[in-house]
Amino acid sequence: MEDLYLKTLPGTRDLLPGEIGRWQAVEEHARRIFSNYAFLEIRTPIIEATELFARGIGGETDIVGKEMYTFRDQSGRSVTLRPEATASVVRAYIQNTMYRGGGITKLYYIGPMFRHEKKQKGRWRQFYQIGAEILGSDHPAADAEIIEIALHFLQSLGVESKLLLNSVGCPSCRPKYIEKLRSELQKHLPKLCADCNRRAATNTLRVLDCKVENCQPYINELPCITDYLCVECSDHFSRLKTYLEAAGIGYEPAPRLVRGLDYYVRTAFEIVSTELGAQNALAGGGRYDGLSELLGGPPVHAIGFALGLDRLVTLLPEERSAQWQWRPELFIAYMGEPAFNKALEIARELRRLNYACYLDFLPGSLKSQLRLANKLGAKHVLIIGDQELYRQRYALKSLQDSRQWELSFPELVQYLQSARKGSQT
Ligand code: HAM
Repeated sequence: MEDLYLKTLPGTRDLLPGEIGRWQAVEEHARRIFSNYAFLEIRTPIIEATELFARGIGGETDIVGKEMYTFRDQSGRSVTLRPEATASVVRAYIQNTMYRGGGITKLYYIGPMFRHEKKQKGRWRQFYQIGAEILGSDHPAADAEIIEIALHFLQSLGVESKLLLNSVGCPSCRPKYIEKLRSELQKHLPKLCADCNRRAATNTLRVLDCKVENCQPYINELPCITDYLCVECSDHFSRLKTYLEAAGIGYEPAPRLVRGLDYYVRTAFEIVSTELGAQNALAGGGRYDGLSELLGGPPVHAIGFALGLDRLVTLLPEERSAQWQWRPELFIAYMGEPAFNKALEIARELRRLNYACYLDFLPGSLKSQLRLANKLGAKHVLIIGDQELYRQRYALKSLQDSRQWELSFPELVQYLQSARKGSQT
């Protein structure tokens, strides 16, 4: 019988050393960009009380209804692996009274999320998000900044994308729209799919998100929420568009865009890639002014987004990915036990001086060591044999142009220093 425990669970995977360079570079890049926009990192637990997500995301959503990893812990309490981080961030904001001083709070996070979704290309059950949230502002410039940071981040990585923009109204104007939507839907229900029929009764707005081809002609005929916005929502939306235009950000109006989480009011947006297939959403977000109160906190205006790292990493231009692969600056090859001890000493010294060195514990012949150095993409190889040991001068071979010459340890340090400077210019 197959040992199933030797396989990752469906929808999960190992991120192996060969690809981790890309992930680390993207994460580092995110940290730099987010901090330029004055966002600070928050790390919330991966596991939370189930009620937090059931209330926050909405009981009728697919995420809460079908996709959460929920179980009872040893104390009998129902807990859930976080399917997203916004509810957790708001919980942390309330629990730590971060609203106390007034003003705005800007937070970002990077980490794994868990949704038991149907298997499909680009969908994982453990996936990674980078997200940012601004709490404490109802200014449409905050909405514009959230969109801008997401696009800036993608652009700076060389990833092409498109912004889809909508407003989903607020509790004062949305009910009127939903009433209209329901009455229009009544006419088409027998022709619509089972999911549409279920959603028409439970979470009417989500009908607009149906992807079934036969439903599309009817869905395209349904009224648009943007025609039902109250004066305040309409004003917020048009001011947001003015800020986006001033920032030179283009968008595609998407009057049928609804998101899979119930907390959104007013601004809702998605950033899609033209290069991905069906799962083309790279990022999604919007305003969630009522979420804090819904969770039992004070009234707080807030807006945020999250970006799917798994999808982003597949879109990174090849030349950038190669640049992010780990490469030793120096590979140390040695012949014989005394040379091995010297190699250990040199590697130790250089690592303390902050150079990336590779030293194998299974040396083999010089030829096989050089083969490994090439495979690892090392720039230089230091060769230590009996002769070199005796003279305290080592052979340095450049793998870029095959030159070889001799130097002492202090000369080696000097050379590595100038080689590093040269590769930076
Ligand atoms: P979301 O649209 O559910 O929003 O997820 C954001 C992004 O996470 C998606 O656009 C997609 O790139 C990625 N993603 C979602 N599910 C998967 C999956 N199964 N596999 C791979 N990638 C996935 C949220 O999570 C909200 N919390 C965003 C937000 C923050 N709204 C306000 N603040």
